[in-house]
Amino acid sequence: MERVRITDDGFTTLFSTEFNQYYHSVRGALDETQRVYIELGLLAKMQETNEINILEIGFGTGLNALVTALEAQKNNLTVQYTTLEPFPISEEDVSSLNYQTGAETDLLQKLHHVKWHENIEISPNFSLQKVNCTLQEFKTSQLFDVVYYDAFAPSSQPELWTVETFTHVASFLKKGGFLTTYCSKTVVRRAMEQAGFKVEKHIGIWGKREVVRAIKL
Ligand SMILES: C[S@@+](CC[C@H](N)C(=O)[O-])C[C@H]1O[C@@H](n2cnc3c(N)ncnc32)[C@H](O)[C@@H]1O
Repeated sequence: MERVRITDDGFTTLFSTEFNQYYHSVRGALDETQRVYIELGLLAKMQETNEINILEIGFGTGLNALVTALEAQKNNLTVQYTTLEPFPISEEDVSSLNYQTGAETDLLQKLHHVKWHENIEISPNFSLQKVNCTLQEFKTSQLFDVVYYDAFAPSSQPELWTVETFTHVASFLKKGGFLTTYCSKTVVRRAMEQAGFKVEKHIGIWGKREVVRAIKL
């Protein structure tokens, strides 16, 4: 399998041989980010507040962070973005991504090159803290408004889709906070419910696969 692939919407993704998965849906990397994390997460929470504290599980290529930073500016939001990544991609991988067009060129590079474990103001609308640890190891006293749950699929990382893991995530979400994800498998939705979430299924962008917004009760 080639490391870099162009997905159906023209944007790149990477293949992980370790996890035997792509970083995004091959049906559209940007489409997936836009639907699952921006529309169901960020923009939905924007209806309640314009100061939004986000936690992402899996920084990966930085696509979710990049689009969130651009949306924060466009909608005049103040976003504090914390993202976990135990296995950062290489410089070579970053330069193979085609998200770096026009004004976004410097921004993607900037997001990849901020120091770990420091809160960095990228713009007046977007601050970033990258944390080099797994979700299981992650501890914080912060409470988040939205969690972008973008781990590899249950077939390769079953331990990240369990009641125990979702209970851990729920412990640092505000009441009424959202967890959004591309995975709507029944067993995953049940695990979320048992961990204290109300689970909503939403139409995905390709009309076929449903996606999930879970709300902490
Ligand atoms: C589906 S990819 C995420 C893609 C990323 N959001 C993007 O836009 O490129 C899953 C990511 O989770 C990371 N990951 C793997 N195990 C993890 C763990 N235990 N905790 C947190 N992140 C993990 C992987 O290294 C990978 O970057």
